[in-house]
Amino acid sequence: MGAALVESIAHLRQHLTEARRSNATIGLVPTMGALHAGHVRLIEEARHECQAVAVSIFVNPLQFDREEDLRRYPRRLDEDRQLCDRFGVDLVFAPSVEEMYPVPPECTIDVGRLADHLCGKYRPGHFRSVATVVMKLFGIVRPDRAYFGEKDAQQLAIIRRLVADLNVPVQIVGVPTVREPDGLALSSRNTQLGPAERQSAIALFRALQAADRQIAGGDTDPAHVKRLAVAEIPPDNPSLRLEYLEIVDPGNMQPVPVITGPVRVAGALWVGSTRLIDNVLSAPGKRSA
Ligand code: PAJ
Repeated sequence: MGAALVESIAHLRQHLTEARRSNATIGLVPTMGALHAGHVRLIEEARHECQAVAVSIFVNPLQFDREEDLRRYPRRLDEDRQLCDRFGVDLVFAPSVEEMYPVPPECTIDVGRLADHLCGKYRPGHFRSVATVVMKLFGIVRPDRAYFGEKDAQQLAIIRRLVADLNVPVQIVGVPTVREPDGLALSSRNTQLGPAERQSAIALFRALQAADRQIAGGDTDPAHVKRLAVAEIPPDNPSLRLEYLEIVDPGNMQPVPVITGPVRVAGALWVGSTRLIDNVLSAPGKRSA
């Protein structure tokens, strides 16, 4: 028996009735589709820990700040469904925009200063819309556990605070970033890169690694670490533009004045017209990337 594809909230609830009646642990993996090995890692974690696994596939228009990005975002429901089948997913929830937003929402989630830096600074309203759609998915699926990647560290930190601050009864599980052999973090957006761009894209991970080495070696000055890291981005490559590279507290996502403990080093790099993000967890005296 393969993964059931359901498109309506009513059907989803019907499908989960039996699981709920038998007290099965329900795991949710929220995604926007175009699934890759990073998503698969989340699914495997969920499969390992839960009796019923649901994957949601919804390209949430509200969290896109650029029309062009929404239009170009890859959509591959048939392949995604096959992949879900292969990895033992019970239910694929792929609602339409009308199903999720019959009317534009008036009530949304304010994520406070967690969105002041990193991606939040450059994508106003993005995390409000992410938190809102994730909260809706929690209300629709009512999972016991939900799985998110560390690849999107600011998103993960916001979801953790969301469930803590609002007492949402779900356990959030963070999953380490899955990378290509050369270190590039897997992303649905990688499919948009041409061959030369794909080669250049590794500069972001190299910069993060340089920062990690420097922090592990005892450098406590974020500005100095940042300068060394940014030097890894070839300045003569016209297709590369660094949007940000920041060193923040892993819990509240605020830049740290001095590096005295674990920090997230996070960056966003434009490669041609594709925006890639990545991060590493780093700490004085500890190798992590
Ligand atoms: P999407 O970009 O499809 O990612 C879905 C989940 O997969 C996220 O939790 C993300 O962090 C994780 N993921 C992506 N690439 C990964 C990688 N290389 N290694 C490990 N995990 C990875 O993030 C979203 O969708 C949306 O914002 C969503 C949460 C679904 C809300 O719309």
